[in-house]
Amino acid sequence: MPTLSYADGVITMIDQTQLPQEEVWLNIDNVDDLVAAIKRLSVRGAPAIGVAGAYGIVLAALAHSPNDDTAKFDAAVSAIREARPTAVNLAYSVDRVVPVAREGGADAALAEAELIRDEELAASFAMGELGADLVTELTESSSVRAMTICNTGGLATVERGTALAVIQTLHERGTLNEAIPLETRPLLQGGRLTTWELQQMGAPFRLIVDSAGPFLLSRGAADVVLIGADRIAANGDTANKIGSFSLALAAQHAGVPFLVVAPESTIDMNTPSGDDIEIEDRGPTEVAGLRGVPSAPDGTDAINPAFDVTPASMITAIVTDKRIVRVGAGETL
Ligand code: MRU
Repeated sequence: MPTLSYADGVITMIDQTQLPQEEVWLNIDNVDDLVAAIKRLSVRGAPAIGVAGAYGIVLAALAHSPNDDTAKFDAAVSAIREARPTAVNLAYSVDRVVPVAREGGADAALAEAELIRDEELAASFAMGELGADLVTELTESSSVRAMTICNTGGLATVERGTALAVIQTLHERGTLNEAIPLETRPLLQGGRLTTWELQQMGAPFRLIVDSAGPFLLSRGAADVVLIGADRIAANGDTANKIGSFSLALAAQHAGVPFLVVAPESTIDMNTPSGDDIEIEDRGPTEVAGLRGVPSAPDGTDAINPAFDVTPASMITAIVTDKRIVRVGAGETL
């Protein structure tokens, strides 16, 4: 099943907060519920929230005519666009679908949203192939050990994924020794979701705690680090899940290639550098507890950046659906 789909005024999505224990499907027919689902990460991952946002504009256009009920339509658009600030795919999709909705109403908006979904799906397959070719070239290995963080699989896109699509392609080619996913505190997207997807694809893997990643790289436990991206600035600086920067530092120290895998829609040429990327802080609750169970004294405050920024100079290459850009070697986007 695709991570999310749309039919007859309803967005259907798997509730990623419940995985892997339960496979719960949500049927969402209004913008408020969609915004809540995006904020609590029932749907998450840059391309997936981009597609969800695109469908959200269809819901908005069905509820409020984009031309006759502009105040309500515009308020719904803003609520969707601002549901999460770091992943550019959300703003990208909204900004693509809104003018189409104003021009041709909900039906035209739906056609544009379906186009975005189809583009993301095709991009996943293209990134998988290009990325796997590059991994083979850089590692000169037919038995690759690939470290990765967060969840970048079909759940984070529409199907297949970004960095995890590369790992899946290596597995299908018979050149994956093992995947090494970080569990990815505080919300455990690696421990809950990437493991679930790796199991489903039958790929060998061993899960590690986040703090083991840099150390294991220093001990030669992985041949490559593969991450996704939430926003790639014009200079190649890359925002991705918190912990990516630590892996980049360690990969550089160990001389291990560090690859960013993301569709072209994640590149934001309007953002000059990583310093200009807004990093979402999700508040103390997720840090002071684990899935509702407190792990720190009541009232504990916390700093909870959901993402960090890896400088372009530390990235061996950015792999998109169209090209490979060796930013660490000075190539530009
Ligand atoms: O907070 P999340 O789970 O939405 O964060 C997701 C990530 O950081 C992914 O690595 C990124 O969106 C790329 S996934 C295709």
